[in-house]
Amino acid sequence: MRTLLLLYLCVYVAWAQDNLDYDDYDDATGLPRNKTGASVDARGHRPLQRGRDSYNANRYSPPPVSGRGRYRGRPTAAPTGQQVQEREEQPEAGGCTHASDEMGVLCPTGCELKTTLQKQERNVRTIVNELKPQVDDLSRSSNNIFNYVNSMSSSLRERQRIITDNSRVVGQYTDSVEEQHAYIKETVDTVFPSNIRVLQGVLDKIRLKIQKLEKAIQVQREGCTEPCKTKCPIPVVSGKECEDIFRRGGKDSQMYLIQPDAFYPPYKVFCDQSSQNGGWLLIQSRLDGSVDFGRRWDNYRRGFGNIAFDVGKGHCETPGEYWLGNDRISQLTKMGPTEVLIEMEDWTGAKVHAQYRQFTIQSETSNYVLAVDGYSGTAGNCFLDGSLQLFGENRTMTIHNGMMFSTYDRDNDNWLPGDPSKQCSKEDGGGWWYNRCHSANPNGRYYIGGAYTRQMAKHGTDDGMVWMNWKGSWYSLKAISMKIRPYFASR
Ligand SMILES: *[C@@H]1O[C@H](CO)[C@@H](O)[C@H](O)[C@H]1NC(C)=O
Ligand SMILES: *[C@@H]1O[C@H](CO)[C@@H](O)[C@H](O)[C@H]1NC(C)=O
Repeated sequence: MRTLLLLYLCVYVAWAQDNLDYDDYDDATGLPRNKTGASVDARGHRPLQRGRDSYNANRYSPPPVSGRGRYRGRPTAAPTGQQVQEREEQPEAGGCTHASDEMGVLCPTGCELKTTLQKQERNVRTIVNELKPQVDDLSRSSNNIFNYVNSMSSSLRERQRIITDNSRVVGQYTDSVEEQHAYIKETVDTVFPSNIRVLQGVLDKIRLKIQKLEKAIQVQREGCTEPCKTKCPIPVVSGKECEDIFRRGGKDSQMYLIQPDAFYPPYKVFCDQSSQNGGWLLIQSRLDGSVDFGRRWDNYRRGFGNIAFDVGKGHCETPGEYWLGNDRISQLTKMGPTEVLIEMEDWTGAKVHAQYRQFTIQSETSNYVLAVDGYSGTAGNCFLDGSLQLFGENRTMTIHNGMMFSTYDRDNDNWLPGDPSKQCSKEDGGGWWYNRCHSANPNGRYYIGGAYTRQMAKHGTDDGMVWMNWKGSWYSLKAISMKIRPYFASR
């Protein structure tokens, strides 16, 4: 018994520990508990499993910059008393007898007669007296019988009445059944067919509409082949990038056509010509969750989303949600020293930014390694410092500088490389320079309202649009954008 108890205790302790280790990613179904002070529950990293794995921060060295019937009451019962007539011993019919019986009966004399009569009378009186109650009885009982008969006949009348009623009801019922039958017949014969005709017509119309919709969708699909075409007039001013355009007089923030390299066709981008004196080229934009960022390597390489919209001013002055494309980003950042401005907004309208004076993305052959340096700003230095809510190795795991780009179909992160079940991009929602895994996740899932929970996340990880050093792991920003421009030391 004691052994059993001990065993139970062990199992319980093991279970409790398992529960405590909320970060155990092998336990995909293990529901997290609500820890008090959820704000300090920093995620982002994938801590080491003691004795089972190790973390090598410098796997790549960072590049230099980079659901009846009613029962009636019984009638009064007929009297049941037995009318047994008691046989009275009648006195002899008068007369005096001889001394000897054989002599017969003597003829009565007056006196004898009188005596006899008196005697008789006494007898008769008694009899009459005795009869009286019987007569009374009889009269009473006949009265009862009368009553009984009376009630019988009234009950009989009642029954007859009910029978008549019933047959009337049956008659009515039959009538109504006939009526309904007629109605149903009429409905089936005439109304149904006509309704069916009407429905047929409706169906045909719906079919037509569906066809139209399918056609429209087809047109949309064709119109949305990469990169997404935006139908607004393109400004005359063009240039190598947004800074170049600014200098050529393109001072409004809107969509422009740029051609950084004469050997490649020009393409559209959104230029922010007002923040910090303008010249900013949007390489990433999130603002309403309209575009899915959980995409493949090829998509991230070529770019996706909507560059800009015309909201009625005749030009595309409102940026859409998009990713410019790793090839383009790499090419732009390698033209010369490039700075990056990451602006973000929470759901109350508060804004912060992070800026790096140096920002370089290597080419695809090196999996677009990221190199940044020279932080300034108010959001917190996620790229170089990692999450300030974590410590030691856990923090190092969230530094993005020097990381290769990873998508769910191409794993280049620093979390048990080569293990397909340990891929940051599969769990954290988008393509990004994941380490093990992130402190910043601008391409993560879009959560309306900001605060979200492990239960809401697809894999229980902090897969929102996160910037840990500003809002922690469990707050998904309302908007975030990344803009680049050539860097000039003397600006
Ligand atoms: C956790 O519980 C507290 C109260 O105990 C509650 O205010 C909070 O919203 C809960 N957090 C989550 C993420 O469920
Ligand atoms: C790293 O995180 C794990 C789990 O969150 C924790 O057990 C460990 O103590 C942390 N290490 C450091 C150095 O903070």
